[in-house]
Amino acid sequence: MPDCYLRGSMASQVVQLRQPSSSRPPLPVINLGRLSKDPATRALAIQDIARACREQGCFQVVNHGVSKSVMKGALEAASEFFELSPEHKELFASTDIRRPIRYDTSSRDGISKARSFLKHYANPLEDWVQYWPMHPPSYRQKMGEYAVEIQRVSMQLMDAILQGLGLRPLCMQEKLEKGVQFLALNNYPQLSHRGDKIGLASHSDYGFLTILLQSSPGLEVMPHGDDAWKSVPVIPGALHVHIGDHLEVLSNGQFKSLVHRAVLNPDEARISIASIHGLAKDEKVCCADELVDEENPEMYRESSFQDFLDFLPSNINNYKRFVESLKINRA
Ligand code: OGA
Ligand code: NI
Repeated sequence: MPDCYLRGSMASQVVQLRQPSSSRPPLPVINLGRLSKDPATRALAIQDIARACREQGCFQVVNHGVSKSVMKGALEAASEFFELSPEHKELFASTDIRRPIRYDTSSRDGISKARSFLKHYANPLEDWVQYWPMHPPSYRQKMGEYAVEIQRVSMQLMDAILQGLGLRPLCMQEKLEKGVQFLALNNYPQLSHRGDKIGLASHSDYGFLTILLQSSPGLEVMPHGDDAWKSVPVIPGALHVHIGDHLEVLSNGQFKSLVHRAVLNPDEARISIASIHGLAKDEKVCCADELVDEENPEMYRESSFQDFLDFLPSNINNYKRFVESLKINRA
């Protein structure tokens, strides 16, 4: 019997059992509280983060300081927004990727198969909150609290990641504080027995890091070197983190951006909030000097978020990852 005819917990058990087996260890879960402990504990946490970045391209974090109520509030605000009548949502409808906020339902980006989304900027909050929805009435408050907390976690993570790469974090930290935080709120329908199971097709994200919160399982990742999709489990209170194209560039290929996708959940409609973190729009990201030498020549061209936005329209009918377009061909 196809999985889609099995309901409730039985369906998820079947899906679990049918996950392709992988030679790799399970996706790591890292206690971020260790970053603010004594230097030895902090050093071990940094090592764990660097290993997860190198070997898997993703991990989940717990003890990150974002309260469960703030996380719940953000998911509620997102879900209430998607439940609004079409007229309310259409106010934000646009296919123009340069807009500070936009809502869309169809698959004009080459990868959206069954999702509606609201995308907007969030850092610094005071610059962007004016563009955010007024409905539901608690949206700005709840999403704002979440965005600020997630920006803080992203700074902590980048600090640890830069140290893990042996880079000096200070000048980069200043740039990150002023950097782009881009929120993508995704709304996926429940898997129907007639439909395709893909909500969002395989891709990688452009920034340094993506921090993702999902209301129920559906995110699947393909760690570097693997050829099987792995489902990211929902661990209460945890946040999923993965590497984007610009961190692959900065690390000169030591860390690879994570290929991921979203599948539809057989039990319920699903919401996810992806927070993508990178440098300011026109700030170029290049391979870090410290990671380039004779044995490790520069592998990527420099590029900015603006360059990514310019790349997107040419990519619509023939989806290609941004990072691929940056690789320097040394043949
Ligand atoms: C994204 C994304 C995955 C998900 O928004 O870039 O990959 O689980 N989302 O919705
Ligand atoms: Ni993504």
